Amino acid sequence: MSEKKLPFTKDQIEKIIEKYPTPFHIYDEKGIRENARRLKNVFSWNKGFKEFFAVKACPNPYILKILKEEGFGADCSSLPELVLSEKVGIVGEEIMFTSNETPANEYKKAYELGAIINLDDITHISYLENTLGKLPELLCFRYNPGPLREGNAIIGKPEEAKYGFTKAQLFEGYKIIKEKGVKRFGLHTMVASNELNPDYFIETVRMLLELVLEINKELGIKFEFINMGGGIGIPYRPGQKAVDLQYVSNGIKSLFETMLKGSGMEDLKLYMENGRMITGPYGYLVTKAIHRKNIYKNYIGVDACMANLMRPGMYGAYHHITVMGKENAKHDKVYDVVGSLCENNDKFAIDRNLPEIEIGDIIVIHDTGAHGYAMGFNYNGKLRSAELLLKEDGTVEQIRRAETIDDYFATLDFSKL
Ligand SMILES: Cc1ncc(COP(=O)(O)O)c(C=O)c1O
Repeated sequence: MSEKKLPFTKDQIEKIIEKYPTPFHIYDEKGIRENARRLKNVFSWNKGFKEFFAVKACPNPYILKILKEEGFGADCSSLPELVLSEKVGIVGEEIMFTSNETPANEYKKAYELGAIINLDDITHISYLENTLGKLPELLCFRYNPGPLREGNAIIGKPEEAKYGFTKAQLFEGYKIIKEKGVKRFGLHTMVASNELNPDYFIETVRMLLELVLEINKELGIKFEFINMGGGIGIPYRPGQKAVDLQYVSNGIKSLFETMLKGSGMEDLKLYMENGRMITGPYGYLVTKAIHRKNIYKNYIGVDACMANLMRPGMYGAYHHITVMGKENAKHDKVYDVVGSLCENNDKFAIDRNLPEIEIGDIIVIHDTGAHGYAMGFNYNGKLRSAELLLKEDGTVEQIRRAETIDDYFATLDFSKL
């Protein structure tokens, strides 16, 4: 069961705040590295195993650099994400480019970088061919199982999702690209988000392996890899159980051994592209209580807002909260912890049992390392915060400064008023 621990003490965070004012996200390098190693070790039975970190979850080059050092590639979905990966030195087939409604210039950049291109639709075969003047030697298709798979709460039902090829389109698509001279093939899917049931991932791999075998039989295509997508969940709530990676790995290993035996594809590589489970638990939004307001409910106003962390407002997502120095105090007050946006869903917590909070208290919001800063926005003229890295040696480095008003106005030309 997960416990909500912090990688810093109250004293340490107070010192950090003296230099870097709240709010900010801070990432725990040691936690990220240990987690990355755990994932790699657990799947080391698959010689070609690779995690392509979903850049969208935490698009900071210093985090990408750490993950590159741990042997991860990058899952990119846009031109800026491709450029970010390139700047960190993640290039070639260390990049998997999975996007949808993709503009031509993004395909061009992905091709120039030598990325593995994953097509979202059968019509993109000719679109890509027209864009590049040819097709790459290696291509991958994204599969949408539609009614054959249930999906889950965050990602929704596959049949209502805009992504991917139908099963029939996969057969047609691979036939087309084989005839056009494509030599290397991959198959991808992404059917879960923040899923905590380990069996879900084993079933996803079973689904992909069945398909690979069927397509191989019908078209004589030898697949090089399957990419089971991301979506491994994290225990946002204390008491929730993290996905048992060893269990998932054992299940997938046994499917590989039994299903691929004698197929000529025994060396099939297993790819995944998680974001949340890689950095999510190792990021913290640090903010301060600046107001207390008691009307029909009791509110604590903090100096961060939904622009720094959108998940609670957007999905009603739970993020654990620690009031520094009051970890062991009685949690006998009930508060809504709120930001300053003119939106009533700008609430980090609703009716949360917490210790008595005073103005100036440091409030730490847990599990913000993925889809946290990344989803930030500027509504209400709110500025995005800084990102800090708590390094393995205990020192702190600012890996992105906070936005300034000048950044906010940078796209405006006031001289023409
Ligand atoms: C195509 C694709 N891959 C990977 C991810 C990463 O998902 P997660 O952070 O839940 O692992 C996403 C998330 O939106 C995605 O759309």
